[in-house]
Amino acid sequence: MKEYKVALLKGDGIGPEIVDETVKVLNKAAEKCGFMIKYTQELIGGAAIDQTGSPLPQQTIDTCKSSDAVFLGAVGGYKWDTLPGDQRPEAGLLAIRSTLGLFANLRPAIIFSPLKAASPLKDSVIGDCLDIMVVRELTGGIYFGTRGRGMEDGAEYAYDTEKYSVTEIERIAKIGFEMAMKRSKKLCSVDKANVLESSRLWRETVINVAKNYPEVELRHLYVDNCSMQLVCNPSQFDVILTSNIFGDILSDEASIISGSIGMLPSASLSEQGFGLYEPIHGSAPDIAGRNQANPLASILSGAMMLRHSLSEPAAADMIETAVNRALLVARTADIAGDGLPSVGCREMGDVVCAEIDAM
Ligand code: IPM
Ligand code: MG
Repeated sequence: MKEYKVALLKGDGIGPEIVDETVKVLNKAAEKCGFMIKYTQELIGGAAIDQTGSPLPQQTIDTCKSSDAVFLGAVGGYKWDTLPGDQRPEAGLLAIRSTLGLFANLRPAIIFSPLKAASPLKDSVIGDCLDIMVVRELTGGIYFGTRGRGMEDGAEYAYDTEKYSVTEIERIAKIGFEMAMKRSKKLCSVDKANVLESSRLWRETVINVAKNYPEVELRHLYVDNCSMQLVCNPSQFDVILTSNIFGDILSDEASIISGSIGMLPSASLSEQGFGLYEPIHGSAPDIAGRNQANPLASILSGAMMLRHSLSEPAAADMIETAVNRALLVARTADIAGDGLPSVGCREMGDVVCAEIDAM
């Protein structure tokens, strides 16, 4: 039987709960489709700080590198909020993305039809369907630029820098265009080229890359306009190509349009196609350990892993179909409604497994 190796980084807050449900669902799909996944659990984030003093221990990096894919829950929590920036749990997440060269972050915001009522937008605004792919650059820009603090005229200051090279922009732009070619051939590149020099280079470079994709209809939006357009006319978007920080912000916005931040999965890929999979939401320390979290973003990230890294598309389809059906059976509190029972994280995982079983 085919066996895959997956590094499992549960992380902090609701991370362990949602990852446990994902493993349950992945194993169920694997059993149905005739393959096995061998998981190796490693530390990241606050959990790693507490046990090893580092948010990303070397052992975690080694296990990730020798696995077929990496699956991550979430990092961060109140307990570590006062640590210096480079020692925080989030530094571990940025470091794993960077160390593994995961520059291409794919964040699909899809409105599952049973969840239309959960969207804060009116039906008339959402239209028939919503299916946006945010392609976010993940290893450059202000997240990785020089930052620091100093004193000037007796007052403290701090700075972060946004820096992008043509090479970095080109490789993410190619991912955006390739994605557009597989979808509706519409690409919207988002920047702040009316103010930022780095955005002007971004735009020039994207226009250059576009020459290789004459079939793709390219347009550019400033990020402030894009964030407004997303809530007043989201169906105009198909693939959104953007920088690290703008992608972080716009993907949260896109997720809530689709009903809940608890529904949006992600894949982060390297040039060689190696992948890390994680829900886009954070560690939600306020509800951690209470069996209240929505595991579906994580479970859907598991489906992305099966499709992109483990070459098991049938199992991926099975999970996505099961999630769609599960939404008609029960829901976690964040997407409650339609007279359906409101259940906890574990029960939601059970419902998805039951739907797979019934296939
Ligand atoms: C995300 C998260 C992270 C990010 C945080 C936890 C560092 O918000 O994956 O969107 O900003 O990239
Ligand atoms: Mg984010």
